[in-house]
Amino acid sequence: MTKLDTIVSLCKRRGFIFPGSEIYGGLSGIYDYGPLGVELRHNIKQYFWNKFVAERDDVYGMSAAILMPARVWEASGHTELFTDPLVECKICHERVRADQSEAIQEHERVHTKEKKKIEWSEPTVFNLLVESKLGASEKTAASVYLRGEITQGVHVNFKNILDSIHPKLPFGIGQIGKAFRNEITPRDFLFRQREFEQMELQYYIKPNEKVGLETFEYWKQFALDWYYGLGFRKESLRLRQHNLDERAHYAKDAWDIEYNAPFGGWKEAWGIHHRGDWDLKRHSEYSKIDLSYFDEEKKERYIPWDIECSGGVDRAVLFVLLEAYTEDEMGGEKRVVLKLLPQLAPIKVAVFPLVSNKEEIVAKAREVYNFLQKQLVTNHYLLATAFDDIGNIGKRYRRQDEIGTPWCVTIDYQTLEDNTVTIRDRDTGKQGRHPIAGLDKYLGDMLG
Ligand code: GAP
Repeated sequence: MTKLDTIVSLCKRRGFIFPGSEIYGGLSGIYDYGPLGVELRHNIKQYFWNKFVAERDDVYGMSAAILMPARVWEASGHTELFTDPLVECKICHERVRADQSEAIQEHERVHTKEKKKIEWSEPTVFNLLVESKLGASEKTAASVYLRGEITQGVHVNFKNILDSIHPKLPFGIGQIGKAFRNEITPRDFLFRQREFEQMELQYYIKPNEKVGLETFEYWKQFALDWYYGLGFRKESLRLRQHNLDERAHYAKDAWDIEYNAPFGGWKEAWGIHHRGDWDLKRHSEYSKIDLSYFDEEKKERYIPWDIECSGGVDRAVLFVLLEAYTEDEMGGEKRVVLKLLPQLAPIKVAVFPLVSNKEEIVAKAREVYNFLQKQLVTNHYLLATAFDDIGNIGKRYRRQDEIGTPWCVTIDYQTLEDNTVTIRDRDTGKQGRHPIAGLDKYLGDMLG
């Protein structure tokens, strides 16, 4: 079993992520988040929002609609240029991306085993936008697209932002939301999906080469530091510049933050793009609405440039899980542990009664559980707590280790005498005693 298969299986078994619409046979490249996955994903998005939006004076947030008229995508260049090369197998008619040698080889192996002669069609271009129709009548229904990147929702609102908030350059707009791409070969679990979530910053600047270069360098480093903040080892991430032939149609320069994945090596996690004036200029032309900015100080009018940081939420979830997954030994027993940062862990504290057949202990454990749940949520530690009284205590620790819960609090016989509990640390297995009074503050402080 590969490490990726192990993660897929753990995700399903423990309620992180399920194949989309599974009871109907699933849908390729589509996944649903379960109770634990949704917490992990939420924590990653919250960390993005804090660092890229909430903690900054020069960045505002917004949330645009998913459906946009076809004209938006003509203007942005996506209807014409957002394509992948496609080849079709002449034996079984399966379509594969022509530039993905791994997928091609994998497909060829199947027919080689069947002793068939492999033949591919000539490559053609395939547009990745997902189209839909909106309107009650077939004839008059308007053609719309599910956004292929969340970016365009920001650019088409540029004038609204200027007119309502009156920001001064440089300023940024942060956004998190779903994007859709009709990927030819969805693969590698959450890595290449057809429906996924992005977290982005569009940072508008003066159209000036020096400013552009400096701002680009700043955000490249900022995004990399942010990614390390998810708990990655130094050697697990790198920055790589796109070759000219890899760059998207809108990019003057492009760098990726890549993760050293156990499936096929370095994989894109984020893209940092110098988009120049491509988007605002094209939307000005196509919408006939002036999207320029007036610089009050210099008395100049110009179309700003855009430096973009664009990250995949689901890829961050996947890479965080791969990085955190550890098999080790504790107390002479093998165990699986997700060494997630406490801030990211779906459940921060699990509360156990040492035994489930002693009423006072179970009642006290319930009391501590209720207290922690209420106090920690009220104090904005965004803390999820769990209660578990099934099986022996060792098994309960293992269950929490496997989903990355950093602390387990146990109520035992001594608790009934002195109102203290044990706190067990996930990574070391060490236990210490702590009074119930102040337990919320103690755990909250450890969460930072
Ligand atoms: N607005 C720029 C943009 O969309 P991109 O490099 O095409 O740039 C940005 O996508 C990020 O979105 C990628 O770095 C990746 O993390 C995520 N992403 C793109 N396609 C994806 C897919 N099919 N499945 C999951 N995540 C994807």
